[in-house]
Amino acid sequence: MNFSAELIAWYEQNKRELPWRNTTDAYIIWLSEIILQQTRVEQGLPYFYRFAERYPTVNDFAAASEDEVLRLWQGLGYYSRGRNMLKTAQLVKELHKGIFPTNYDQLIMLKGIGEYTAAAISSFSANEARAVVDGNVYRVLARYFGIDEPINSPNGKKIFQQIANDVLDVQRPALHNQAMMEFGALLCKPRNPACGICPVRTGCASFKSNATQLLPVKLKKVKVRKRFFNYMLIYDGGKLLMNKRGDNDIWANMYDLPLIETDELLEPVQVMALPEMQIFGKNVILLDNSGIVKHVLTHQHLFIRFMMLKDFPPKLHGNWFYADISSLGKLAMPKSIIIFIKNIFNF
Ligand code: ADE
Repeated sequence: MNFSAELIAWYEQNKRELPWRNTTDAYIIWLSEIILQQTRVEQGLPYFYRFAERYPTVNDFAAASEDEVLRLWQGLGYYSRGRNMLKTAQLVKELHKGIFPTNYDQLIMLKGIGEYTAAAISSFSANEARAVVDGNVYRVLARYFGIDEPINSPNGKKIFQQIANDVLDVQRPALHNQAMMEFGALLCKPRNPACGICPVRTGCASFKSNATQLLPVKLKKVKVRKRFFNYMLIYDGGKLLMNKRGDNDIWANMYDLPLIETDELLEPVQVMALPEMQIFGKNVILLDNSGIVKHVLTHQHLFIRFMMLKDFPPKLHGNWFYADISSLGKLAMPKSIIIFIKNIFNF
């Protein structure tokens, strides 16, 4: 038996009974796939039943209110997905007279349906020969064929789709796709794959080389941290209140202005009401404020606002000092700060 036939034989012995596997109704399959993109099977089941009972057809779904859809979706998170389902249902009603398409080319045209979902629906509902590639499939293929190309690189995506197409049983695409996913979910698991009882381990490259735990390779996304900088511009008799930065954050040891960092974007009046503002004394008033200047760094996006303050009597804190406007050109400052104060003081 070839790879696909082995997996199908395994699937028929080991599969879970799941409600969306007993239908070829493209709408019901779509419901299940969107829910399963958001959560695991056990957690998704009650949501699936709730949606399928409340909206037995795509026309029922299309007629729903957004409020109700969001209420049914509640707890799944990522609410735009719930909202987009409603849009997709309405689109199907308009463009396809309420008959959910079963062919890949029509499905992929619908906003909210990507390659995976289009392949899943077309194969499960109409046995169209389309190979699904989801997280389970990436893992199974990477291990079996010993591929260390990252699954989320553009090249990796192409390679894995190609292999998935090559191993697809074009006579039995629905069965093949279900088998691949179920095999990944139950046996070739992310951690502790059950290689001891695996029907294809003799052909498995990573089993031979003891590398199952190393595959698949996934590139880590750089996490971008958002930070909100509220800089205080305090100008007093030809001098500007400046700050020398410490050495354990961005812009180490460079010069900037007194700073109040917040966890979210606040309006200037909200910043003025923060307890941290007491550092400027009791008599501080807000004269003016800038819009938001976005400063993009590799791992951080800074949202900077400048607030012009009148402070009397001004106090010095930590590394603050007054600098003559004429000496500002000698201080090493981050670009967005230079640009802003140059605009004001023309140094
Ligand atoms: N995850 C995504 N699609 C699935 C399906 N059809 N059956 C089981 N798990 C899945």
